Amino acid sequence: MKENALIDTHAHINSEQFDQDRGKIITNALENNIGAIINMGDTIQSSQQCVELAEQYAICYAGVGVHPEEAFDMGQQDLDQLAALAQNNKVVCIGEIGLDYYWEKDRDKRGLQRRIFIQQLDLARQLALPVCIHNREAHGDTMEIIKKEGKGIRGVMHCFSGSLETALELVKLGWYIGVDGPLTFKNAAKLPEIVRQIPLERILVETDCPYMAPSPMRGKRNEPAFVRYVAEKLAEFRGVDFEEIQRQTTINAKALYTRLK
Ligand code: NI
Repeated sequence: MKENALIDTHAHINSEQFDQDRGKIITNALENNIGAIINMGDTIQSSQQCVELAEQYAICYAGVGVHPEEAFDMGQQDLDQLAALAQNNKVVCIGEIGLDYYWEKDRDKRGLQRRIFIQQLDLARQLALPVCIHNREAHGDTMEIIKKEGKGIRGVMHCFSGSLETALELVKLGWYIGVDGPLTFKNAAKLPEIVRQIPLERILVETDCPYMAPSPMRGKRNEPAFVRYVAEKLAEFRGVDFEEIQRQTTINAKALYTRLK
C-alpha cells in the first residue's frame, strides 16, 4: 500500500449503487490519493462480495460479518462460512456487526441482534481479528456487551454517535473511534468536541459510502475519494495540517487492522 495516502476504513462499494461505474470509483479513489478501501459486509452474501472485490482490486480490503439490521438466527454453519471467508488475508476484521435500535423496535428482534453480536465477537476472538461495530441508538447495550463479551478484542466504533464519555471509555479499552460525513455537517453536535478531546492516535476516517456523503457533497452518492473531506474537517477541528491527519489516521488504521499492507 502507498504511504502518505488516506485510507477509507469503512465503505460499501460492493453496493448495487456502484454496479454501473465501480471501476471508475476505484480510479477516482486512486487519483485522489486513497491508499486502501475497506469494504464491510452486512450479510454473508455481501461479505463474500467484499472478499471478491479484495481479490480483484489491490486497493480493496474486506470486513466480513452480519449487520444488526440483517440479523437472522445464525447457526454454526453460518459462523463457519464467515470464518472460511476470513481465511483470505485481505479480510482485516469481523464487521460490520453490532446493534441498531433506531431501525429495530421489536424486543425479540433486538434480543436476536444482541445474540448474533456476541456470537460474532466470539468468532473474532477465535480468529484473532479486530471488529468493526455499528451502533445506532443502542449505546448502553453496545458498551455493556463490548465490556463483558469483548474481552481480548480490539475494534472501532464506526460512525461514532455517542457521548464524549463513551468515546473516552472506548479509548481506555484500547479501541478506536470512526468518523465520517456527520463530522462535516453544520449540525455535527457533539462530534467536533469529541474529536478534539480524544487522542488523534485513536481516530479512523471513513465514508460509509454510498451513504453519509460529507459536506460539500452532502445529498449525493458518497464514494471513497470523499474521505478527504472528512480528513480536512478533522484537520480543521484539531488545528493541524491535512498531511498530519493523513499520516496519523493511516498509521492508526494499520495499527488496528494489521492485515493492511
Ligand atoms: Ni456501514
